[in-house]
Amino acid sequence: MSAAPIPKTAPFAEEEIESLNRVVGTATPIQRAWLAGFLAGLEAQAGVAANDVLPAAAPQKAEPLTVLYATESGNSEKLAGDVAKSARKLGFKPALVDMADLDVASLKDTKKLIVIAATWGEGEPPGRAVHAYKTLMSDAAPRLDDVEFGVLALGDTAYAEFCAIGRKIDERLAALGGKRVVDRVDCDLDFAEPAARWIGDAVKVLTPPNAGGRVIEVDFGGKPAAPASTDIVEAEITEHVDLNSSRSDKETIHLALSFENGAPAYQPGDSLDLYPENDPDYVDELLKVAGLTGDEKLRNDFIKSRDVTTLSLKTVEAYAEKTSHHYVKALIADGQAREWIAGRQLIDLIATFPIALDAEKLRALTRPLAPRAYSIASSRREVGDEAHLLISAVRYESHGRARKGVASNYVAERLKKGGRVRVKLKPNKHFALPAPDRDVIMVGPGTGVAPFRAFVQERRATEASGRSWLFFGDRTFTHDFLYQLDWQDALKDGALTRMDVAFSRDTPEKIYVQHKLWDRRTELVGWLDGGAYFYVCGDAKAMAKDVRAALVRAFADVKSLTPEAAEQAVVTLEREKRYLQDTY
Ligand SMILES: Cc1cc2nc3c(=O)[nH]c(=O)nc-3n(C[C@H](O)[C@H](O)[C@H](O)COP(=O)(O)OP(=O)(O)OC[C@H]3O[C@@H](n4cnc5c(N)ncnc54)[C@H](O)[C@@H]3O)c2cc1C
Ligand SMILES: Cc1cc2nc3c(=O)[nH]c(=O)nc-3n(C[C@H](O)[C@H](O)[C@H](O)COP(=O)(O)O)c2cc1C
Repeated sequence: MSAAPIPKTAPFAEEEIESLNRVVGTATPIQRAWLAGFLAGLEAQAGVAANDVLPAAAPQKAEPLTVLYATESGNSEKLAGDVAKSARKLGFKPALVDMADLDVASLKDTKKLIVIAATWGEGEPPGRAVHAYKTLMSDAAPRLDDVEFGVLALGDTAYAEFCAIGRKIDERLAALGGKRVVDRVDCDLDFAEPAARWIGDAVKVLTPPNAGGRVIEVDFGGKPAAPASTDIVEAEITEHVDLNSSRSDKETIHLALSFENGAPAYQPGDSLDLYPENDPDYVDELLKVAGLTGDEKLRNDFIKSRDVTTLSLKTVEAYAEKTSHHYVKALIADGQAREWIAGRQLIDLIATFPIALDAEKLRALTRPLAPRAYSIASSRREVGDEAHLLISAVRYESHGRARKGVASNYVAERLKKGGRVRVKLKPNKHFALPAPDRDVIMVGPGTGVAPFRAFVQERRATEASGRSWLFFGDRTFTHDFLYQLDWQDALKDGALTRMDVAFSRDTPEKIYVQHKLWDRRTELVGWLDGGAYFYVCGDAKAMAKDVRAALVRAFADVKSLTPEAAEQAVVTLEREKRYLQDTY
């Protein structure tokens, strides 16, 4: 006799229910009795009375919980998965919803809602979440009087608009009548612990009191949500080449990494997180202005593992609090601190407002040094156990001081061929190639071209039949044409069907990729109407917005659409996940 199937309402994911049914459904009565005894024994061993775990009566329907996430680089999505796991253990039936797919009107039917939202750009929602976010903020949003909710915000204190999107969603849900049952927490880049704590609290608070009989208590407090970083791997640098000519004012490094135990299992479109070290000269100068020269332990710690450059409002407030510095306190009290921070670093704060500091006070002003993401510029099918990166050295001057980006200059100035570097795979399933027979249009000026080298290599290796069209741009043809020979080869062997280039400093009038899109609008819209996928990678501040606007105008012009209808055509591409972005 086979057992009655486990109902769909059970507090497991659908695939888990299927797996359980596969085993329990065909088990003999003796096997089922053994399993029941075994599970009860396990719980008793864990200190939970069997009566607390086993339903006394018929199983109750698992409580639905919507876990909504707005993500660009996957952190919020990963945490949403952690929420679902924890919630299932407490008897919920969680539904994970990417804000990219959210029908905002459906929120009114939700009883319990957890939102995890990242902030991007300069206080903007992640690209894929823009549409739903705008609807939520508009008059079209439904009343949420019956919704209990909690919001976890992800961000980076280095940005002026720290966690702005999480904060705005939290305020909006309350304004629409939702009942906030757990206070929002705003997380910085080292979010693992606070996020895990918040998730544990939120799921517990949302658990109905009458669920007592079925609840298995789990202690989540303080445990990191993310697994330990065991997947950081050390790679050897086998190539370190500046792709700009010596007469360029830019330096863009092609870095080939090789892995002793096989490259991480990356796909075209993924990135690597690279773990940098700080510039020892900068650290020495910082220690000098802080009056802490000679503290070798602190120097080493600062070079290897602390973020000693970022200056955030939080840092200025901590400095005022720890030092009671009169002028810094006044800066905050006058509401000037935010403006003062712009373009400045930690060293400016200490140099401008010097005060006696000890090592512990100075260290407390810093956060852990975070890795930087770099798009992978190769396909494993072509390069085997290697991964290639394309890294542009960030250098600029502000407030009279020459500044250098931490990771990009670590790579450009201090890593050498034969050296080693620590990296971790950062998958991005939202920026993947489509089926081999689909056409792709790739817009990647500057280092934005990196993932498209991976795409082209992959399409060559898989002999993809779909066409591919690359839009590339940089400053000058002669000095800044990144991977020029690769593109020429790809055009010759057919891995690349077309290429358009825009070199902004070669002509009196600046030409960018968006101008090339406009020039080619008829063919472009033709490709998209035929089902092509449109990819944009690179600068988020201006380029990505200009490219999108150019595409809207192209639709309006080629198909004689109103601006609204043309906008809708691009929104449709986004909804169909044929307009994909990886911008930074
Ligand atoms: C998914 C993803 C993929 C990426 N792929 C690539 C890639 O393929 N190649 C690549 O080169 N980069 C890529 N980046 C960017 C990369 O991660 C780093 O942000 C970049 O290299 C700068 O890091 P850094 O440590 O050198 O600079 P940081 O030390 O982090 O300094 C950068 C900061 O300096 C400030 N700053 C920079 N320029 C100026 C200026 N002109 N005026 C005033 N302030 C300024 C800004 O506050 C900026 O945030 C990617 C980013 C993401 C998120
Ligand atoms: C290009 C870029 C812009 C960002 N802009 C902001 C911002 O304006 N405010 C903020 O708090 N965090 C900002 N962040 C930090 C992200 O929110 C943070 O890395 C977060 O963990 C990303 O989560 P996700 O992986 O779910 O997208 C930015 C990060 C990048 C790379």
